[in-house]
Amino acid sequence: MMAPAILAIDQGTTRTKALVFDAEARCLAQAASEVPLTYPQPGWVEQNPYDLLESVIANARAALQTAGEVSLLACGLANQGETVVVWHRRSGQPLYNAISWQDRRTDLLCEQLRREGAERLIRERTGLPLDPYFSATKIRWILDNVPGARELAARGELLAGTTDAWLMWCLLGEHRTDETTASRTMLYNPRLRDWDEEILALLEIPRSILPEIQPSCSLFGTISAEHFGHPLPLTASLVDQQAALFGQACYAPNDVKVTYGTGAFILLNAGQTLPTSRHGLLPTVAWSRGEEIVYALDGGIYVAGAAIQWLRDIGLVHSPEETLELALSVPDSGGVFFVPALAGLAAPYWDSYARGTIIGLTRGTTRAHLVRATLEGIAFSTRDVLQAMVQDTGRPIRSLKVDGGASANSFLMQALADITGVEVHIAAVQETTALGAAFLAGIGAGLWHDERETARLWREAKVYRPRGNGSIEALYRRWFNAVERARGWAAI
Ligand code: G3P
Repeated sequence: MMAPAILAIDQGTTRTKALVFDAEARCLAQAASEVPLTYPQPGWVEQNPYDLLESVIANARAALQTAGEVSLLACGLANQGETVVVWHRRSGQPLYNAISWQDRRTDLLCEQLRREGAERLIRERTGLPLDPYFSATKIRWILDNVPGARELAARGELLAGTTDAWLMWCLLGEHRTDETTASRTMLYNPRLRDWDEEILALLEIPRSILPEIQPSCSLFGTISAEHFGHPLPLTASLVDQQAALFGQACYAPNDVKVTYGTGAFILLNAGQTLPTSRHGLLPTVAWSRGEEIVYALDGGIYVAGAAIQWLRDIGLVHSPEETLELALSVPDSGGVFFVPALAGLAAPYWDSYARGTIIGLTRGTTRAHLVRATLEGIAFSTRDVLQAMVQDTGRPIRSLKVDGGASANSFLMQALADITGVEVHIAAVQETTALGAAFLAGIGAGLWHDERETARLWREAKVYRPRGNGSIEALYRRWFNAVERARGWAAI
């Protein structure tokens, strides 16, 4: 008998990955490729929707070919979040490039909506702050700026959605999305579990162009055989960060995961009651299955791994790996603090005028001190978000599950444990986003019964324990002071 297997697709901002997992959550095969981003104007970030689609098909085919003879039960899809695509209903032709979640072109539109007093209603209905990060104003931008778009929409000839909806339209012929992705659009009302009519009217987005919303773990349709070579039911779809939370087996309220990539994405399982945040976090849907819905508090940091890349780009280090050796070569950062606000500050500060700040330089400061301060800055930024989570929930955080590139840096992981005072657990399977999509798809396909079963499949590679350094609190106060100096700089 052929072994049962699940195909997971992780269509992220910079890469598309396809992995095949068996019933023990072992990775049987994987394929990955980069997807290009373009920057047509300062602050604009776009992708070709066909690049996303073609990379999904090519990698899925390659992974399935390597996996060989398996009994493929289902597919799970993780998407990059708030990025939008608008396309013609009949031809399937995109009207414009995909506008990335990173794109800030609707800053002014958001400013104008704020002046018109829209922010309160948006926060009340969607739980989100009014910000260009989310999908809504990007869809509005396409409708307002692509000639003929409004007329096409009025005639029912346009469809819009996040990249999952675009991929599903191409692969399944269905116009659908899931609740986690819908919760990132700034158009979804988690109380109604549906699009919010008043917000749609306010943002002048016709409901008819939006996809139908389904639970994350549900049958979205069948991927036809022409694409991957096999007909395959899509039984799970969700945002990549939420998928990583699921793949890290953060199933109990207050479980937290951090994914270090360009930025850092920190999600806390907030249980089954819709959370609110008074400390700069985003309430979001973590996953849903049937009537059951689990929420999360989300705290994103724009720059984490990118700070290490920046050190390399300016020639301070040759490679990210070198930072480990350099940081360990000095006993401390010599009083230097680096607030890596290279793209402003996201959670919990939300200050787009903040700028990267290095403070505490002396004649004795060395390259090693700067490198160490950079890594510590990433750990301090993570603590800022965790602290906001503790303030919001009123409950302590006991441990952190960490994945992503920077989790391989043992200095950074130990600094994270020391600075946050919590244990840092590194997963054995680093592709936790794909694993989460596979777990949820496998539950949907009946391979696993529920998360109690997938929890048993989660394995640990390493744990870092806090060493109880008595000076951490004093250092954290100094960090906070450095952040205050970084804030608002571009507005001065
Ligand atoms: O909110 C955006 C986030 O989900 C993107 O993650 O891994 O595609 O950069 P990633």
